[in-house]
Amino acid sequence: MRKIAFINEKGGVGKTTSTVNVGGAIAESGKKVLMVDIDKQCYLTRFTGLRSGIDYAEDKTVNELLHGTVTAQDVIVQRSKNLWVIPSSTALAESEYGLFLKLGRERLLANALADVGKFDYILLDCPPSLGLMTVNALAYANEVVVVMQPEPSSLQGFDHLLKTFAAIKGAINADIDVTGVVCSMIERKKVHGTIFDHLKANLGDKMFKTTIPSRAAFIEASGQGKTIGEYKPSSDEAKLVRQLAAEVMKRKPK
Ligand SMILES: Nc1ncnc2c1ncn2[C@@H]1O[C@H](COP(=O)(O)OP(=O)(O)OP(=O)(O)O)[C@@H](O)[C@H]1O
Ligand SMILES: [Mg+2]
Repeated sequence: MRKIAFINEKGGVGKTTSTVNVGGAIAESGKKVLMVDIDKQCYLTRFTGLRSGIDYAEDKTVNELLHGTVTAQDVIVQRSKNLWVIPSSTALAESEYGLFLKLGRERLLANALADVGKFDYILLDCPPSLGLMTVNALAYANEVVVVMQPEPSSLQGFDHLLKTFAAIKGAINADIDVTGVVCSMIERKKVHGTIFDHLKANLGDKMFKTTIPSRAAFIEASGQGKTIGEYKPSSDEAKLVRQLAAEVMKRKPK
């Protein structure tokens, strides 16, 4: 079972969109995928079309899971063929402090998901910070995919991210590695190309070959609670995402 956290402490770079669409494409290929929304903004829950009180109970989310009042089986929702989701809750905003005071606070998610069951892939959509939620994801995952927008300001943030990642690897989870870096929301600007080349020169084959362009179809799909593969199955966007998913699937670390 591969457990992959999608991270970047920078906000709005396409982490959630990438998690949902890569997950959707992996599920399309016949593998069983569980996506875990650990962000109090709940965008993954929303982008996958799950509605509180209809598709899942308001009090059966990752929030209760972390507090230990429900089990993994209580909060897993089958969303479509081969695709399951653990929804998040905005209540996580208030309750995070309580989690912070708990003993073993870094491993709350890992412990709660110990009996999660059989999935081929577990994808964790992290919030845009390296706070307690992301640390919990990194304590549980064995791989990281960094999602970034190749803007000049991203480079500095990226160095910081790698340093923090190395610190977390040393302190909490020696078994975690960076599987790859995906450039998302690429505009046809020259600066993007230059930064991409710079990243490629520094990261070598850690960079995924496939990049995700900035296109309205991604926003429209999420707005309808669909993956890009469901929304526009034969579009260029869906093809690119399948290509990226194939790279992720092929790149089995260690
Ligand atoms: N490839 C894309 N093309 C166009 N718009 C995109 C693309 N990917 C994401 N977006 C849009 O950009 C916004 C931010 O994307 P997303 O929520 O995936 O980023 P994020 O990194 O998860 O953000 P946060 O840090 O807040 O969690 C959303 O409105 C989303 O629909
Ligand atoms: Mg997000």
